[in-house]
Amino acid sequence: MHNHIYPPSFEIGREDRNRLNRHPSGVLWLTGLSGSGKSTLAAVLEKELYRREIRSFILDGDALRKGINRDLDFSPSGRDENIRRMGEIAKLLMQAGVVTIVAAISPYREHRRYVRKLFEGDRFYEIYVKCGIHTCMQRDPKGMYAKAHQGIIPDFTGVGMSYEEPLEPNLIVDTDGRSVDSCREQLLQFLKEMEMFGDA
Ligand code: ADX
Repeated sequence: MHNHIYPPSFEIGREDRNRLNRHPSGVLWLTGLSGSGKSTLAAVLEKELYRREIRSFILDGDALRKGINRDLDFSPSGRDENIRRMGEIAKLLMQAGVVTIVAAISPYREHRRYVRKLFEGDRFYEIYVKCGIHTCMQRDPKGMYAKAHQGIIPDFTGVGMSYEEPLEPNLIVDTDGRSVDSCREQLLQFLKEMEMFGDA
């Protein structure tokens, strides 16, 4: 069914947009348990990027599941498709010159590997937002772990379903017993090392 599709080539490309923006585009893929701090760190990072006049956008699992991904469940195949779509959207935003911050549990290595392949050799960084399950359960910002333990959400990540830790992430941000400020500094240092700030 894809045999007769010929994407047009337009004159203005990613390089032009990156030049206009004076910074490269890239993808920061935050993976980790629910309650590990992905959305918090995404928000903090976005503010820092904004302050540096860097165009960024957050793709948040919860937010996208209210719209483009609302037809998907939390079965492995539902999560697979969720991750695939987020990866494809991030790929479009890469062309659009944006620094995309993805915040999604993305619990399976195979799905994450698939996404990573979409960006092979490019500015794609897998960032493991690491936090012990017990701390996540204590934080329980949305009361989800409580519901999972009551059996209301049987397939909740970390309770009824597994989370596969990244084996070789580009960065590990350990949020367990650590301040948001300290995590922010670590992330900013990483972005600096990756030369994500351009000449801004
Ligand atoms: S993912 O596994 O497909 O990557 P995603 O990050 O999009 O998950 O969505 C996770 C959010 O959905 C959680 O923050 C939580 O609020 C909500 N949620 C609802 N049901 C589940 C579930 N069974 N497992 C994990 N998260 C769930």
